[in-house]
Amino acid sequence: FNRQSGILERYREFLPITEKTPLVSLHEGNTPLIHAPNLSKQLGVELYVKYEGLNPTGSFKDRGMVMAVAKAVEEGSNTIMCASTGNTSAAAAAYAARSGLRCIVLIPSGNIALGKLAQAIAYGAEVIAIDGNFDEALDIVREITAKEPITLVNSVNPYRIEGQKTAAFEVCDALTDAPDILAIPVGNAGNITAYWKGFEEYFAAKKSNRLPKMYGFQAAGAAPLVHGEPVSNPETIATAIRIGNPASKDGALNAISKSNGLVDSVTDEEILHAYHLLAKSEGVFCEPASAASLAGIIKLHEAGRLQPGSQIVCVLTGNGLKDPNIALKLVGEEPRSVPATHEAVMELVRQSGRE
Ligand code: F0G
Repeated sequence: FNRQSGILERYREFLPITEKTPLVSLHEGNTPLIHAPNLSKQLGVELYVKYEGLNPTGSFKDRGMVMAVAKAVEEGSNTIMCASTGNTSAAAAAYAARSGLRCIVLIPSGNIALGKLAQAIAYGAEVIAIDGNFDEALDIVREITAKEPITLVNSVNPYRIEGQKTAAFEVCDALTDAPDILAIPVGNAGNITAYWKGFEEYFAAKKSNRLPKMYGFQAAGAAPLVHGEPVSNPETIATAIRIGNPASKDGALNAISKSNGLVDSVTDEEILHAYHLLAKSEGVFCEPASAASLAGIIKLHEAGRLQPGSQIVCVLTGNGLKDPNIALKLVGEEPRSVPATHEAVMELVRQSGRE
């Protein structure tokens, strides 16, 4: 029986944990770093994916949320609130349920993946859909939590960043050092900020011998960091990163400049291509926003901007099952239907074998 069930226990020495902090856990973290041999060959690099979709609620948000909820409980709060494109709300709802807190989530109406909405409802959160986008939802939540006795659990809450930095520790442990490049999708920019903090702290503690270059990728229709200014009407199929005014912009820019990294954009077409390619060539199914990291690496490879043989980790932030509609509508066709006979099935099998 593993008593160190979650990140709070495993990385206690690196986290703001006191004797009063409850060691909340749904067994988050400890996600696999999966080697991608087929894509490595195709791209001429050593490619790994950090599959955060295997966290308890299916995204990296669990790492930050377990820390934020534990501190909320420690501080005597009984209600948490967040704005979300879906994954933060799923994680907040689950850890609030686990800890007996009330949870209120604001989501952009019509722009949240089906699985994420189902999770928030199942875990018992109070879900409010606003007629606006994520940035507007976050503004409202910040105003309300500044006045009311409600704990804000978006990544502007520093405990979220503290929990999320543990993913960088795991990458270093798995590779025995930091990689050459850490490629990551960027939305509200909390996660790139958190990874960089994790890499810097591990390096300072001599648990790694170098720092990676941080490569952030935004969706082309929601790329404020690439344009250098907020985008008022962000648009992308990758609804998780449909964000025009990232709250942790400064953290992201710091990570990129200090690490000698870069920020770039990828089109929805490039995102969907990477999303499908990863699933069918490596057997790893992530959600569309997550594939922005791989799409960015493919784009750089095609532009001749990747050093051959580089060790690259693409962060896959969420599970493909979160957003089944995208897979059904944009990747595959509907299954072909035939009469329930041996002959009819075999005829189709022979036919598709020839295609
Ligand atoms: N990938 C996924 C699957 C996400 O859900 C998010 C953010 C990101 C990437 C970007 O991370 O915001 O730290 O730069 N989702 C937030 C949410 C906004 O509400 O679930 P970031």
